[in-house]
Amino acid sequence: MRRLPGHGLRRGDAVAVTVDGEPTTAYLGESVAVALMAGGDLSTRTTKGGENRGLFCGMGVCFDCLVVVDGVPGTRACVTWVRDGMDIARQDGPGVRRAAPGG
Ligand code: FES
Repeated sequence: MRRLPGHGLRRGDAVAVTVDGEPTTAYLGESVAVALMAGGDLSTRTTKGGENRGLFCGMGVCFDCLVVVDGVPGTRACVTWVRDGMDIARQDGPGVRRAAPGG
């Protein structure tokens, strides 16, 4: 772990994950939601009607942050911790994986 400058916080070890088909880096101890937001897109899923959803409660209650993790739809991004090799995809509708960029 390394200390972040000026914050007194320590960041976990870097791990390799895939977000919407793109390889990226996340850090142990972070939630899947944080890994998604770090990429600059606050959306985690769309509703059946196509509206964007993202973090709302941030503590596993509202189910607004559902994503597909390792092929399992309906996973709450806010209470799921990243791990090395995790495959994360934003979710469309009730459980369909969002198409990867260019795919
Ligand atoms: S943000 Fe509410 S369950 Fe994840």
